[in-house]
Amino acid sequence: MITLGIESSCDDTGLAIVNPNGKVLDHITSSQHEIHAQYGGIVPELASRDHVKKFIPLLSILLERNSLSIKDIHLIAFTNGPGLLGPLLVGASLSKALGWSNNIPTLEVNHLEAHIYSPMMTEENLKPPFISLLVSGGHTILSSVDLNFNIQTLGTTLDDSAGECFDKIARKLGLSYPGGPQISKRAESSFDNNFVFPRPMIKSNSYDFSFSGLKTHAINIVNQTELTNKNINNISFELQNAIVETLISKSRKASNELGISNIVITGGVSANKKLRDEFSLIKECNAYFPDIKFSTDNGAMIAYAGLLKSKTHKFTKNYKIKPNPSLTL
Ligand SMILES: Nc1ncnc2c1ncn2[C@@H]1O[C@H](COP(=O)(O)OP(=O)(O)OP(=O)(O)O)[C@@H](O)[C@H]1O
Ligand SMILES: [Mg+2]
Repeated sequence: MITLGIESSCDDTGLAIVNPNGKVLDHITSSQHEIHAQYGGIVPELASRDHVKKFIPLLSILLERNSLSIKDIHLIAFTNGPGLLGPLLVGASLSKALGWSNNIPTLEVNHLEAHIYSPMMTEENLKPPFISLLVSGGHTILSSVDLNFNIQTLGTTLDDSAGECFDKIARKLGLSYPGGPQISKRAESSFDNNFVFPRPMIKSNSYDFSFSGLKTHAINIVNQTELTNKNINNISFELQNAIVETLISKSRKASNELGISNIVITGGVSANKKLRDEFSLIKECNAYFPDIKFSTDNGAMIAYAGLLKSKTHKFTKNYKIKPNPSLTL
Protein backbone atom coordinates (compact mmCIF):
# COMPACT_ATOMS: atom_id res chain seq x y z
CA MET A 1 0.00 0.00 0.00
CA ILE A 2 1.53 3.31 -1.06
CA THR A 3 0.27 6.40 0.74
CA LEU A 4 0.43 9.83 -0.88
CA GLY A 5 0.65 12.73 1.59
CA ILE A 6 -0.55 16.22 0.67
CA GLU A 7 0.33 19.25 2.82
CA SER A 8 -0.95 22.79 2.22
CA SER A 9 -1.78 24.28 5.61
CA CYS A 10 0.30 27.41 5.15
CA ASP A 11 3.11 28.42 2.78
CA ASP A 12 4.70 25.06 1.91
CA THR A 13 3.35 22.86 -0.87
CA GLY A 14 4.38 19.38 0.27
CA LEU A 15 3.93 16.00 -1.38
CA ALA A 16 5.39 12.63 -0.39
CA ILE A 17 4.93 8.90 -0.77
CA VAL A 18 5.49 6.34 1.99
CA ASN A 19 5.49 2.55 1.81
CA PRO A 20 3.35 0.26 4.05
CA ASN A 21 6.07 0.31 6.74
CA GLY A 22 6.04 4.10 6.85
CA LYS A 23 9.37 4.43 5.05
CA VAL A 24 9.51 7.68 3.10
CA LEU A 25 10.11 6.70 -0.54
CA ASP A 26 10.30 10.27 -1.83
CA HIS A 27 9.13 13.77 -1.00
CA ILE A 28 8.98 17.25 -2.54
CA THR A 29 8.43 20.56 -0.77
CA SER A 30 8.07 23.87 -2.55
CA SER A 31 8.45 26.78 -0.18
CA GLN A 32 6.88 30.18 -0.78
CA HIS A 33 9.37 32.14 1.34
CA GLU A 34 10.38 34.41 -1.53
CA ILE A 35 6.76 35.30 -2.30
CA HIS A 36 5.98 36.37 1.27
CA ALA A 37 9.40 37.74 2.33
CA GLN A 38 8.63 41.29 1.18
CA TYR A 39 5.49 41.39 3.37
CA GLY A 40 7.21 40.09 6.54
CA GLY A 41 4.55 37.36 6.94
CA ILE A 42 2.22 35.07 5.00
CA VAL A 43 -0.36 36.64 2.65
CA PRO A 44 -3.12 33.96 2.59
CA GLU A 45 -4.45 34.81 -0.89
CA LEU A 46 -0.96 34.59 -2.44
CA ALA A 47 -0.33 31.33 -0.58
CA SER A 48 -3.53 29.75 -2.00
CA ARG A 49 -2.70 30.85 -5.55
CA ASP A 50 0.77 29.38 -5.38
CA HIS A 51 -0.54 26.02 -4.09
CA VAL A 52 -2.98 25.93 -7.06
CA LYS A 53 -0.08 26.61 -9.45
CA LYS A 54 2.35 24.07 -7.95
CA PHE A 55 0.39 20.96 -6.92
CA ILE A 56 -0.14 19.16 -10.24
CA PRO A 57 3.37 19.84 -11.64
CA LEU A 58 4.93 18.66 -8.34
CA LEU A 59 2.73 15.55 -8.27
CA SER A 60 3.80 14.72 -11.84
CA ILE A 61 7.47 15.04 -10.89
CA LEU A 62 7.02 12.87 -7.79
CA LEU A 63 5.19 10.10 -9.65
CA GLU A 64 7.43 10.16 -12.72
CA ARG A 65 10.71 10.01 -10.88
CA ASN A 66 9.46 6.98 -8.91
CA SER A 67 8.03 5.29 -12.02
CA LEU A 68 4.56 5.34 -10.48
CA SER A 69 1.15 6.24 -11.85
CA ILE A 70 -1.73 7.58 -9.76
CA LYS A 71 -3.27 4.05 -9.93
CA ASP A 72 -0.38 2.77 -7.77
CA ILE A 73 -1.51 5.00 -4.88
CA HIS A 74 -3.69 3.17 -2.34
CA LEU A 75 -4.42 5.97 0.09
CA ILE A 76 -4.33 9.78 -0.09
CA ALA A 77 -3.72 11.57 3.23
CA PHE A 78 -4.23 15.33 3.31
CA THR A 79 -3.98 18.08 5.92
CA ASN A 80 -7.44 19.20 6.98
CA GLY A 81 -6.31 21.69 9.64
CA PRO A 82 -5.28 23.73 11.45
CA GLY A 83 -4.03 26.32 8.99
CA LEU A 84 -5.15 28.98 6.54
CA LEU A 85 -8.56 28.23 5.01
CA GLY A 86 -7.64 29.01 1.38
CA PRO A 87 -4.49 26.86 1.29
CA LEU A 88 -6.29 24.03 3.15
CA LEU A 89 -9.14 24.12 0.61
CA VAL A 90 -6.67 23.79 -2.28
CA GLY A 91 -5.06 20.66 -0.75
CA ALA A 92 -8.40 19.11 0.25
CA SER A 93 -9.96 19.75 -3.19
CA LEU A 94 -6.98 18.28 -5.00
CA SER A 95 -6.92 15.22 -2.72
CA LYS A 96 -10.62 14.52 -3.06
CA ALA A 97 -10.66 15.08 -6.82
CA LEU A 98 -7.72 12.67 -7.22
CA GLY A 99 -9.33 10.15 -4.86
CA TRP A 100 -12.81 10.31 -6.33
CA SER A 101 -11.70 10.13 -9.97
CA ASN A 102 -9.31 7.23 -9.35
CA ASN A 103 -11.33 5.35 -6.72
CA ILE A 104 -8.70 5.88 -4.00
CA PRO A 105 -9.76 6.47 -0.36
CA THR A 106 -8.81 9.81 1.13
CA LEU A 107 -8.07 10.35 4.81
CA GLU A 108 -7.89 13.67 6.63
CA VAL A 109 -4.89 14.32 8.90
CA ASN A 110 -4.51 16.77 11.77
CA HIS A 111 -1.38 18.77 10.92
CA LEU A 112 -0.37 19.00 14.61
CA GLU A 113 -0.55 15.23 15.09
CA ALA A 114 1.54 14.80 11.95
CA HIS A 115 4.26 17.04 13.45
CA ILE A 116 4.13 15.09 16.73
CA TYR A 117 4.69 11.71 15.04
CA SER A 118 7.28 13.01 12.54
CA PRO A 119 10.36 11.72 14.48
CA MET A 120 8.96 8.16 14.21
CA MET A 121 9.65 8.29 10.45
CA THR A 122 13.38 8.08 11.11
CA GLU A 123 13.61 6.82 14.74
CA GLU A 124 12.43 3.27 14.17
CA ASN A 125 12.43 2.30 17.86
CA LEU A 126 10.51 5.35 19.02
CA LYS A 127 7.01 4.54 20.26
CA PRO A 128 4.62 6.20 22.75
CA PRO A 129 4.42 6.87 25.64
CA PHE A 130 6.33 10.10 25.34
CA ILE A 131 6.16 13.76 26.25
CA SER A 132 5.61 15.92 23.17
CA LEU A 133 6.80 19.50 22.76
CA LEU A 134 5.39 20.93 19.53
CA VAL A 135 6.98 24.28 18.71
CA SER A 136 6.13 25.85 15.39
CA GLY A 137 5.11 29.09 13.73
CA GLY A 138 1.55 28.80 14.98
CA HIS A 139 1.77 26.63 18.10
CA THR A 140 3.64 25.89 21.32
CA ILE A 141 1.99 22.84 22.90
CA LEU A 142 3.27 20.51 25.59
CA SER A 143 1.40 17.20 25.75
CA SER A 144 1.68 13.57 26.75
CA VAL A 145 1.06 10.76 24.28
CA ASP A 146 0.02 7.38 25.72
CA LEU A 147 0.57 3.84 24.46
CA ASN A 148 -2.59 4.03 22.34
CA PHE A 149 -1.61 7.32 20.72
CA ASN A 150 -4.10 9.31 22.83
CA ILE A 151 -2.78 12.85 23.16
CA GLN A 152 -3.44 14.84 26.34
CA THR A 153 -2.57 18.54 26.26
CA LEU A 154 -0.66 19.62 29.38
CA GLY A 155 0.00 23.22 28.49
CA THR A 156 -0.01 25.63 25.61
CA THR A 157 1.01 29.20 24.92
CA LEU A 158 -1.33 31.79 26.39
CA ASP A 159 -0.41 34.25 23.62
CA ASP A 160 2.36 34.09 20.99
CA SER A 161 4.08 30.91 19.83
CA ALA A 162 7.84 30.48 20.14
CA GLY A 163 8.19 30.59 16.32
CA GLU A 164 6.21 33.83 16.15
CA CYS A 165 8.54 35.36 18.76
CA PHE A 166 11.59 34.39 16.64
CA ASP A 167 9.92 35.76 13.48
CA LYS A 168 8.72 39.08 14.99
CA ILE A 169 12.05 39.96 16.62
CA ALA A 170 13.95 38.94 13.49
CA ARG A 171 11.80 41.33 11.48
CA LYS A 172 12.41 44.11 14.00
CA LEU A 173 16.16 43.45 13.68
CA GLY A 174 15.91 43.74 9.88
CA LEU A 175 16.46 40.01 9.29
CA SER A 176 14.53 38.10 6.65
CA TYR A 177 11.53 35.76 7.05
CA PRO A 178 11.36 33.12 8.45
CA GLY A 179 13.24 34.61 11.38
CA GLY A 180 14.15 31.50 13.40
CA PRO A 181 17.01 30.33 11.16
CA GLN A 182 18.34 33.93 10.85
CA ILE A 183 18.33 34.48 14.63
CA SER A 184 20.07 31.13 15.09
CA LYS A 185 22.77 32.05 12.55
CA ARG A 186 23.33 35.49 14.12
CA ALA A 187 23.50 33.97 17.63
CA GLU A 188 26.46 31.83 16.56
CA SER A 189 28.48 35.02 16.00
CA SER A 190 27.78 36.45 19.46
CA PHE A 191 30.86 36.39 21.69
CA ASP A 192 30.26 39.03 24.37
CA ASN A 193 26.53 39.10 25.09
CA ASN A 194 25.52 41.80 27.57
CA PHE A 195 21.72 41.60 27.22
CA VAL A 196 19.51 39.89 29.80
CA PHE A 197 16.01 38.81 28.71
CA PRO A 198 13.34 37.21 30.94
CA ARG A 199 12.59 33.46 30.89
CA PRO A 200 8.77 33.70 30.87
CA MET A 201 6.70 31.66 33.37
CA ILE A 202 9.70 29.51 34.16
CA LYS A 203 8.84 29.50 37.88
CA SER A 204 5.10 29.00 37.43
CA ASN A 205 3.57 25.66 38.39
CA SER A 206 1.58 25.33 35.18
CA TYR A 207 2.76 23.80 31.91
CA ASP A 208 1.61 26.86 29.97
CA PHE A 209 3.90 29.21 28.07
CA SER A 210 3.73 32.94 27.33
CA PHE A 211 6.04 34.62 24.85
CA SER A 212 4.39 38.03 24.36
CA GLY A 213 6.18 39.60 27.38
CA LEU A 214 9.54 38.38 26.10
CA LYS A 215 8.65 39.73 22.65
CA THR A 216 7.74 43.15 24.06
CA HIS A 217 10.89 43.23 26.18
CA ALA A 218 13.02 42.39 23.13
CA ILE A 219 11.22 45.01 20.98
CA ASN A 220 11.87 47.68 23.65
CA ILE A 221 15.56 46.74 23.75
CA VAL A 222 15.79 46.85 19.95
CA ASN A 223 14.16 50.32 19.97
CA GLN A 224 16.76 51.60 22.45
CA THR A 225 19.80 49.99 20.80
CA GLU A 226 21.94 50.97 17.84
CA LEU A 227 21.57 48.05 15.43
CA THR A 228 25.23 47.30 14.78
CA ASN A 229 26.14 43.78 13.67
CA LYS A 230 27.50 43.08 17.14
CA ASN A 231 24.27 44.16 18.87
CA ILE A 232 22.10 42.19 16.41
CA ASN A 233 24.20 39.09 17.12
CA ASN A 234 23.99 39.58 20.89
CA ILE A 235 20.22 40.25 20.91
CA SER A 236 19.75 37.14 18.75
CA PHE A 237 21.88 35.11 21.15
CA GLU A 238 19.95 36.22 24.22
CA LEU A 239 16.53 35.80 22.58
CA GLN A 240 17.40 32.28 21.47
CA ASN A 241 18.71 31.40 24.95
CA ALA A 242 15.57 32.73 26.63
CA ILE A 243 13.26 30.74 24.32
CA VAL A 244 15.34 27.55 24.50
CA GLU A 245 15.69 27.63 28.31
CA THR A 246 11.95 28.20 28.73
CA LEU A 247 10.99 25.35 26.41
CA ILE A 248 13.45 22.96 28.07
CA SER A 249 12.43 23.87 31.60
CA LYS A 250 8.71 23.12 31.01
CA SER A 251 9.46 19.89 29.11
CA ARG A 252 11.75 18.61 31.89
CA LYS A 253 9.12 19.44 34.48
CA ALA A 254 6.52 17.39 32.54
CA SER A 255 8.95 14.52 32.07
CA ASN A 256 9.85 14.44 35.80
CA GLU A 257 6.32 14.85 37.11
CA LEU A 258 4.75 12.28 34.77
CA GLY A 259 7.69 9.86 34.96
CA ILE A 260 8.05 9.68 31.17
CA SER A 261 11.67 9.92 30.06
CA ASN A 262 11.21 10.13 26.29
CA ILE A 263 10.63 13.66 24.99
CA VAL A 264 9.72 14.26 21.34
CA ILE A 265 10.39 17.80 20.07
CA THR A 266 8.77 18.75 16.75
CA GLY A 267 7.57 21.65 14.55
CA GLY A 268 9.67 24.24 12.72
CA VAL A 269 11.47 25.52 15.84
CA SER A 270 12.73 21.96 16.48
CA ALA A 271 15.21 22.62 13.65
CA ASN A 272 17.01 25.01 16.03
CA LYS A 273 20.56 23.77 16.72
CA LYS A 274 20.82 25.28 20.20
CA LEU A 275 17.52 23.62 21.20
CA ARG A 276 18.74 20.26 19.87
CA ASP A 277 22.13 20.59 21.59
CA GLU A 278 20.67 21.58 24.97
CA PHE A 279 18.02 18.85 24.97
CA SER A 280 20.59 16.18 24.19
CA LEU A 281 22.67 17.25 27.23
CA ILE A 282 19.85 16.31 29.66
CA LYS A 283 20.94 13.03 31.24
CA GLU A 284 17.62 11.83 32.68
CA CYS A 285 15.68 12.24 29.39
CA ASN A 286 15.97 10.87 25.86
CA ALA A 287 15.25 13.62 23.34
CA TYR A 288 13.97 12.76 19.86
CA PHE A 289 13.76 15.17 16.92
CA PRO A 290 12.53 14.79 13.35
CA ASP A 291 15.10 14.75 10.58
CA ILE A 292 15.82 18.48 10.00
CA LYS A 293 14.13 18.42 6.58
CA PHE A 294 10.92 17.16 8.23
CA SER A 295 10.90 19.78 11.05
CA THR A 296 9.05 22.42 9.07
CA ASP A 297 5.89 21.63 7.09
CA ASN A 298 6.19 18.74 4.65
CA GLY A 299 4.10 16.09 2.89
CA ALA A 300 6.04 13.13 4.36
CA MET A 301 4.71 13.67 7.88
CA ILE A 302 1.16 13.87 6.49
CA ALA A 303 1.57 10.61 4.56
CA TYR A 304 3.11 8.94 7.63
CA ALA A 305 0.39 10.15 10.02
CA GLY A 306 -2.28 9.12 7.46
CA LEU A 307 -0.82 5.63 7.28
CA LEU A 308 -0.71 5.39 11.11
CA LYS A 309 -4.33 6.55 11.29
CA SER A 310 -5.40 4.07 8.62
CA LYS A 311 -4.03 1.26 10.80
CA THR A 312 -5.89 2.36 13.92
CA HIS A 313 -9.13 3.91 12.61
CA LYS A 314 -11.84 2.60 10.35
CA PHE A 315 -12.25 4.78 7.30
CA THR A 316 -14.32 4.69 4.15
CA LYS A 317 -14.34 6.42 0.81
CA ASN A 318 -15.79 9.53 2.38
CA TYR A 319 -15.19 12.59 0.23
CA LYS A 320 -17.26 14.87 2.46
CA ILE A 321 -14.59 15.89 5.01
CA LYS A 322 -14.19 19.68 5.15
CA PRO A 323 -10.99 21.48 6.18
CA ASN A 324 -11.07 23.01 9.64
CA PRO A 325 -8.71 26.02 10.01
CA SER A 326 -9.00 25.98 13.81
CA LEU A 327 -8.60 22.24 14.39
CA THR A 328 -6.84 21.47 17.70
CA LEU A 329 -5.22 18.37 19.16
N1 LIG B 1 16.48 26.87 12.96
C1 LIG B 1 15.38 27.43 13.47
N2 LIG B 1 15.43 28.03 14.69
C2 LIG B 1 14.32 28.57 15.23
N3 LIG B 1 13.13 28.61 14.61
C3 LIG B 1 13.04 28.05 13.40
C4 LIG B 1 14.15 27.42 12.77
N4 LIG B 1 13.73 26.95 11.55
C5 LIG B 1 12.41 27.28 11.44
N5 LIG B 1 12.01 27.94 12.54
C6 LIG B 1 10.68 28.52 12.80
O1 LIG B 1 9.69 27.56 12.57
C7 LIG B 1 8.46 28.21 12.21
C8 LIG B 1 7.81 27.47 11.05
O2 LIG B 1 7.50 26.18 11.49
P1 LIG B 1 6.33 25.32 10.84
O3 LIG B 1 6.54 25.30 9.36
O4 LIG B 1 6.21 24.03 11.52
O5 LIG B 1 5.15 26.27 11.33
P2 LIG B 1 3.75 26.53 10.74
O6 LIG B 1 3.34 25.41 9.88
O7 LIG B 1 3.81 27.91 10.20
O8 LIG B 1 2.86 26.49 12.04
P3 LIG B 1 1.94 25.27 12.54
O9 LIG B 1 2.67 24.01 12.29
O10 LIG B 1 1.77 25.57 13.98
O11 LIG B 1 0.67 25.40 11.76
C9 LIG B 1 8.82 29.66 11.90
O12 LIG B 1 8.37 30.46 12.98
C10 LIG B 1 10.35 29.65 11.83
O13 LIG B 1 10.95 30.87 12.23
MG1 LIG C 1 3.55 23.20 10.74
